[in-house]
Amino acid sequence: MFFTRISHNSAALVCIVLLNVYLFYFYSPSAEKGSSTVATKLKESSTSSSNVSPKYTCDMMESFDTLSYPQINQLRRSLMMNDTTCYKNHKTKFVKAFEERIGLQHIMLHIPKAGGTSVCQQVKKENKLTNSGHNCWKDSFCPLWCGCTSVQPTTCSKIEHWKEDFVMNENYLDDFCADRSYSILIREPVKRAISHINHLLEAVAYRDGNLEGTRNWRLSLVQANYLTWSLSVYPALKKDKSLDIRHYEPSEKDLIIAKRRLMQMDYILDLSHENTSCRAKLLRYLNIGNEIGHDNSAGGNSYRNDFRKMDLNGMNALDVELYEYATRLIDMDCDFYKKIGRKN
Ligand SMILES: *[C@@H]1O[C@H](CO)[C@@H](O)[C@H](O)[C@H]1NC(C)=O
Ligand SMILES: *[C@@H]1O[C@H](CO)[C@@H](O)[C@H](O)[C@H]1NC(C)=O
Repeated sequence: MFFTRISHNSAALVCIVLLNVYLFYFYSPSAEKGSSTVATKLKESSTSSSNVSPKYTCDMMESFDTLSYPQINQLRRSLMMNDTTCYKNHKTKFVKAFEERIGLQHIMLHIPKAGGTSVCQQVKKENKLTNSGHNCWKDSFCPLWCGCTSVQPTTCSKIEHWKEDFVMNENYLDDFCADRSYSILIREPVKRAISHINHLLEAVAYRDGNLEGTRNWRLSLVQANYLTWSLSVYPALKKDKSLDIRHYEPSEKDLIIAKRRLMQMDYILDLSHENTSCRAKLLRYLNIGNEIGHDNSAGGNSYRNDFRKMDLNGMNALDVELYEYATRLIDMDCDFYKKIGRKN
């Protein structure tokens, strides 16, 4: 009896075992991570304080050489969406910019229950990319929802000293840093939320003592619009330093921010996306084999589906819209990848 319980809860156990370690580490007063050298910090186009944010239209091609890479990614996707003529005329520039970034040290934003653990295991198994610790987390990339309840933003001045080829961030996206490429790992939001709630409830049931007093905010965080939260909470925190990210409720304006930051990513990965050859290409750019199981997160550990769909749809309305948008972007990216690696 006890053994079955353990195996069913292995994922939860992982979460909880780490709780103690990380609670200790993150409650230690090392929170002066906030200081950062501005030099390595890439200004995000539309958040750059005073001036008007640039319009992501064909006019922007004139200053292409001065753009940061998040801007280039956003511009390519904006043009592919809205101005295909302009995109076609300038395709080679985008291809070149994309190819130059293949092989950079990488940070994957791991939206929980989207298959990230499998991705990390694959990386570790292949042993081609140097990587970080458990679940490929490093420092404050250890998840708030699970063990690391007082995470701080991870600054670029810190990241630039990291040696690992491949690191996963299971929290929220901070600034895009120089000399790193970025991806996001996503999944259909309602399925994702169900799986995440299950995981949390199992964890609570198994070791209720450790989560006592914190389960409510954890549940609020994981069950509703987590994807939007992970892309938009950091800009909100920059505006209001006193913000409690655990309780941050994303709104429509955060959806706009989240869409923008999604467009700024180098790669958008959905293990359940129907175009499997496209996914294989994307993984090849990251130097990861395509052996990752199809949407692993849905199988195995204590996955139960007896929730009221309508409630979860409502709670995840922003994420559902964001996911549809992401799927469009992935389709466009798949089309773009056809141009990569051809010499002409
Ligand atoms: C595409 O154009 C529409 C209509 O002008 C605009 O609302 C939208 O923001 C544009 N999308 C992008 C990604 O630029
Ligand atoms: C799937 O992705 C491949 C590789 O990027 C691309 O060539 C192909 O057109 C895509 N298929 C569909 C149906 O979009």
